[in-house]
Amino acid sequence: MKRPILIHPDPRLKKVCEPVPDLSDDLRRLADDMLETMYDAPGIGLAAPQVGVTRRLIVLDCVKDEGEEPRPLVMFNPEVVASSDETNVYEEGCLSIPDQYADVTRPKIVDVRWIDRDGNAQAETFDGLWATCVQHEIDHLNGKLFIDYLGAVRRQMITRRMQKLKREQARA
Ligand code: NI
Repeated sequence: MKRPILIHPDPRLKKVCEPVPDLSDDLRRLADDMLETMYDAPGIGLAAPQVGVTRRLIVLDCVKDEGEEPRPLVMFNPEVVASSDETNVYEEGCLSIPDQYADVTRPKIVDVRWIDRDGNAQAETFDGLWATCVQHEIDHLNGKLFIDYLGAVRRQMITRRMQKLKREQARA
């Protein structure tokens, strides 16, 4: 089931999310809903607070080529345990900040640990777009958005645009 995506500014997008203590059918259903919502948007990553659930859960799939197999990843309690000194710049966007994009510099390579959909501990090294995406999504769990990396003027400009968009949506 698709879920509505919260649009910035929203207090739920600024919260530090709670760890998931035990996997339940409800949480698995939430993860499946988030993947469906992400693919439908379409996007390459989504964090639970973006659908109003302040739990440490993200989903992502950065496979972009048409011919390539999709690779949906579900991560409960994801954690970056090591990151490279080498950095990468990507033009980032966010489903909670539609149609706004900006360059963000992040570590190029990160080691991430998480609990998968079946409750198993996983660890993997991510590079390139995957590394950027997983860091962007984990930031969401700490109440941080990609616009928080920008200067105050740019951030405020984007926030005002989103306030206007939300007013228009409320009227529609
Ligand atoms: Ni985002």
